[in-house]
This record gives sequence, C-alpha cells and structure tokens, in this order.
Amino acid sequence: MSPLGFLTFAHKLWKEHLKPGDRAIDATCGNGYDTLVLSKIGLSHLYVFDIQENAIKETKNRVGIKKNISYHLGCHSTFSGVEKPVHLIVYNLGYLPGGDKSLTTCAETTLKSLENGLELLTPEGLISLTLYTGHNEGKREEKAILAQVAQLSPKKFQVSHHRTLNRSQAPSLLLIKKI
Ligand SMILES: C[S@@+](CC[C@H](N)C(=O)[O-])C[C@H]1O[C@@H](n2cnc3c(N)ncnc32)[C@H](O)[C@@H]1O
Repeated sequence: MSPLGFLTFAHKLWKEHLKPGDRAIDATCGNGYDTLVLSKIGLSHLYVFDIQENAIKETKNRVGIKKNISYHLGCHSTFSGVEKPVHLIVYNLGYLPGGDKSLTTCAETTLKSLENGLELLTPEGLISLTLYTGHNEGKREEKAILAQVAQLSPKKFQVSHHRTLNRSQAPSLLLIKKI
C-alpha cells in the first residue's frame, strides 16, 4: 500500500468509527488534509493541534474557521483545552511535508501525548497513528511507541498494527481501541 493508500485506509476507518455529535482531536494537523476529512463528519467539536504556526495557518485556509473547530498552536503532549471524553484521536507523525524536517514529532512528547490521550477516550474510543520510519527520529519513535502500547492491558485496550511486509520503510497504521 502506498503512503497515500495508508492514509485513505485510515480516513475510511475514521468515517466508519465516528458519528455526528462526537468529539475528535487531530493531534498533528500539518497541511490540514486529515482535518478536512474530520471536519465533514458533523462532529460537535474538533480540536486541532500543531506546534507550527504555518501548519495551523495552512489548515485554517484549507478547512476554514468553524464554530465546532478549535485551533491550538502548541505541543499535543498535554492536550490543554480539550474537554473529555473524545471518540477519536488521530496522529499523522513525522514532519510537515514541504516544511522544516527538523520539526518532527518525537518519541518523548508523542508517548506523553498518548498517555494523556488514553485518559480522554470514551469507552469504544479510538486512537489512530500513522507511523513513518523513513527518517531517524521516525524509527526511534516507532520503536518506543510499539514497546509502550504492547504493555497496555488487553482487558482495557485492543491494539493492532497494520504494516506493509514487502516494502521497507513504508508507513504503517497503529490503532488503539478502548474496550
Ligand atoms: C506528517 S505532518 C501531519 C500531516 C497532516 N495531518 C496533514 O493532513 O497534512 C506532522 C505534523 O506534526 C507536527 N508536530 C510535530 N511535533 C508536534 C507536537 N509535539 N505537537 C503537535 N504537532 C506536532 C509538525 O509540525 C507537522 O506539521
């Protein structure tokens, strides 16, 4: 599956999972493509995060200013300003395509964010992460995340990892569902 194929797969899952009136978080809005998909579901609230002003601006341009969408310039590690519970949290990890490659998500803050995200989830809530190993921090981040989520209690969470077996460094999709 191409990178685009994996994102399309993730978008389908999100649309199937969410219903109008639900709350969701886009933890890494980047150029706003994922936010745009989520903005069309009729959510009661969509929280949008990115550490880069450019990313927030690009996403606002793509999606528009709407009553049910709040834009948060800052790190997703604390999810400051988010009201509990949320039904879906999406991460598309790595750096902003076309932007500064040094401003990438990193293992420490992503793990902190995941820990807080799990607390925000409603029962049956879902966390979706697209992981990239084509750069060094991405490799380190994937390793740390997979080790961490493998420790989650099977009584509380169902964790699955979807990856391409016959292409090295292809992105993969990690799903964490609260039981
Ligand atoms: C691969 S891009 C996201 C692509 C985006 N979802 C889209 O549809 O275009 C990753 C984004 O994560 C952002 N980012 C990196 N570290 C972050 C952090 N700690 N908190 C929030 N966003 C972060 C980067 O600035 C970048 O825009």
